[in-house]
Amino acid sequence: MLNIVLMGPPGAGKGTHAMWMAKDYAIPHISTGDMFREAMASGSELGNQIKDIINSGGLVSDDLTCALVKERLSRKDCENGYLLDGFPRTPAQAEALKTFGKEINREVNLVINIGAPDELLIQRIAGRRVCPKCGASFNVNTMKPKVEGICDVCGAELIQRKDDNEESFKVRLTNYYKSTAPLMEFYKNEGVLNDFDGSIEATDLKKVITDCLEAHK
Ligand code: AP5
Ligand code: MG
Repeated sequence: MLNIVLMGPPGAGKGTHAMWMAKDYAIPHISTGDMFREAMASGSELGNQIKDIINSGGLVSDDLTCALVKERLSRKDCENGYLLDGFPRTPAQAEALKTFGKEINREVNLVINIGAPDELLIQRIAGRRVCPKCGASFNVNTMKPKVEGICDVCGAELIQRKDDNEESFKVRLTNYYKSTAPLMEFYKNEGVLNDFDGSIEATDLKKVITDCLEAHK
């Protein structure tokens, strides 16, 4: 069974690789970023509460995020594995996941950590275009859609994320180094960490991640 945490700085390729991993291994892709953006798009109370935090690149509170993820992981579709993208992101979230993971029989057994240098991340974020409907990620420089501005997967019009500006990106990157990067040590100690170089071609990275998944499934 694959109970996966996908980690990495903003723009490393988490969403890009989560798409095929979830499909090929038939496990739900649970992205806290996507869940928050859906809440914002729906105009729900939660969406209004977190809008300013997300757009400025800040972190949503641990309590709120953990409650959301615990509820999602408890669902039946996660009983044969899951793929968490963007959670946990702080030491408190990692500790909470460890505790409630045991409680609901959803303990993490594999961490895929994708790293890339800052200069590359900023370039990727500047060129990123996303599908507001299915969440697919494209890039005007490196991973162009077949038809300019249109999602290859579902045909919707691509947009630029509101937090994909230089200012918000800097906040996201600072938060990553301060709060999320220490989790590498946490998961190394748990014996589940696997590091990957996210600066290589996406197709080459897919091959090495697949080898890792095959060895662990
Ligand atoms: P989230 O949506 O998780 O954003 P993020 O972590 O900043 O990560 P990104 O989605 O920006 O990057 P990615 O690694 O998915 O890159 P992608 O594959 O698209 O979170 C958003 C916000 O929600 C947070 O800032 C926070 O406010 C809140 N939040 C979420 N989770 C939270 C939590 N747990 N606690 C508190 N708050 C939380 O790729 C990037 C670009 O590069 C694309 O254009 C892609 O086409 C291109 N690309 C990817 N790989 C390659 C490659 N190998 N070669 C060339 N181009 C590539
Ligand atoms: Mg993403």
